[in-house]
Amino acid sequence: MRIAPGPRSASWTELHAHARRLGAVPTRELFERDPGRFERFSRRGAGLLMDFSRQHLDEMVLGRLLELPEAAGLAAYRDAMWRGERINATEARAALHVALRQRPGERLGGEAIEREVLEERERMLAFAAGVRSGRIAGSAGKPFTLVVNIGIGGSDLGPAMAAQALAHYSRGAPRGEFISNVEGCRLADVLEGADPRTTLFIVCSKTFTTLETLTHAQSAREWLREALGEAAVPSHFAAVSVNHRAMDTFGVHPDHRFRMWDWVGGRYSLWSSIGLSLAIAIGREAFVAFLEGAREMDAHFRRAPWEENLPVLLALIGIWNINFLELPTLAVLPYEERLARLPAYLQQLEMGSNGKSVTLEGRRAEWQTAAVIWGGPGSNAEHSFYQLLHQGTPRAALDLLLPADSSCGNRAQHELAIASCLAQAEAFMSGYPAEAVREEFDREGLPAERRETLEPHKVHPGSRPSTLIAFPRLDPATLGRLIALYEHKVFTQGVIWGINSFDQWGVELGKRLAGALIASVRDPAGQPAVAPGVQQLLEQLAEWRNTP
Ligand code: F6P
Repeated sequence: MRIAPGPRSASWTELHAHARRLGAVPTRELFERDPGRFERFSRRGAGLLMDFSRQHLDEMVLGRLLELPEAAGLAAYRDAMWRGERINATEARAALHVALRQRPGERLGGEAIEREVLEERERMLAFAAGVRSGRIAGSAGKPFTLVVNIGIGGSDLGPAMAAQALAHYSRGAPRGEFISNVEGCRLADVLEGADPRTTLFIVCSKTFTTLETLTHAQSAREWLREALGEAAVPSHFAAVSVNHRAMDTFGVHPDHRFRMWDWVGGRYSLWSSIGLSLAIAIGREAFVAFLEGAREMDAHFRRAPWEENLPVLLALIGIWNINFLELPTLAVLPYEERLARLPAYLQQLEMGSNGKSVTLEGRRAEWQTAAVIWGGPGSNAEHSFYQLLHQGTPRAALDLLLPADSSCGNRAQHELAIASCLAQAEAFMSGYPAEAVREEFDREGLPAERRETLEPHKVHPGSRPSTLIAFPRLDPATLGRLIALYEHKVFTQGVIWGINSFDQWGVELGKRLAGALIASVRDPAGQPAVAPGVQQLLEQLAEWRNTP
């Protein structure tokens, strides 16, 4: 199926030549040459508008980029994913997260998988409805008012991000909290003053072996047991995992267990029962709308020709910026506070999937792969790191996300967000050239000696590439579309780079080394020697820890 990674295609060589050709041209000049860029370099699809007219490219570049999907065999690979083939080659697994959002009758993954997915979805949604209505309650019969999701990575980032993004759909639902980092202070804060009789814990862990998750789950279990007794535990825990034996051992009631499958990667699992805390927060109708939004993007990704295909275009723009303009980071800047956790979610999705340097053939990739993903809510960011983005030495690619309407009915202030976002997109692209600075000085009548000093400091070079993704409003369907857009962008980049987007061997080493160090942390003197540099650290930390 694999033809060859994109970097081995003739188009790749051509694209390097185009990067040299455009190297000395300011992006604003591309607009001056072609004022119709918006029409040429924006697309609509699956309810979104994607405006990439401020990217540093022209028709010739786009034409060559659009040759890469064919060169890399994207269509065949995409169809193989949908058929449930084991495209996750190093783990011999399928990557069938798209099957999680299928409608009845689609048979994605085959009849058996379709049946399992739909049955499990119904069980999860019924459980969520029971918690929301109070039909499912604590051991004392009191409805749950606090739902604590215990998980990490894909078992935390997705539910936490989505719960914040759709908070305006969770009025009247139990309060949701998310516990992940291993040090335990967050759990202590959440349980401070919490009523065990009305607290539900959801342990999300595909493997049910993750140190952080099991540690927190045991702490929560002990807290609950001490307050209400061992017999109360099953009423106050639910769990999502492939590991039924471990859920048995922990004492999770069979009706409170929800399954996952090996063919769903953690960072692609929000659509499954890992989304239970989200379903409790927003309810059945909104959760199904969330799935439907992703399904709409799936259909677009499968049907739209490459030149109209939003995930493919977003992927190709990323490849242009990373591999040819040599921009190694991408800042995700949502002009919507409720999407504040989206950059963190996309960090795992993008860097967990494509942070690889060995190709599917087992050879070292001689090209760059995933960018460093970072970012934060737009207008906050203007007051923190936009200085670097405008006038700094490291340059970044930018994704600006912009709802047309306020998610809380505050139209006047949301109009300020729109103005900020569009102004910044223009400023990043056109900069503030010296002649514009001098005109400003003329208008202000600035004295000559001040002009000479100040001018170089006020110039903005511009040519900071950005894509603007706009949509009517932040609702469940739109969130589903946005996440699926990035999922399929990541998939497309992985295929073109010739890497496996669905394994994560790089996260195992640290975990293994940490497990070996725990005894030494607890007793630096008494344990077998650790790496020289570590021993002194352990002793100093122990001294401080033992000094009140
Ligand atoms: O970070 C490694 C990883 O395996 C992620 O892929 C996963 O989302 C996370 O840890 C949690 O794993 P689990 O859901 O098995 O607890």
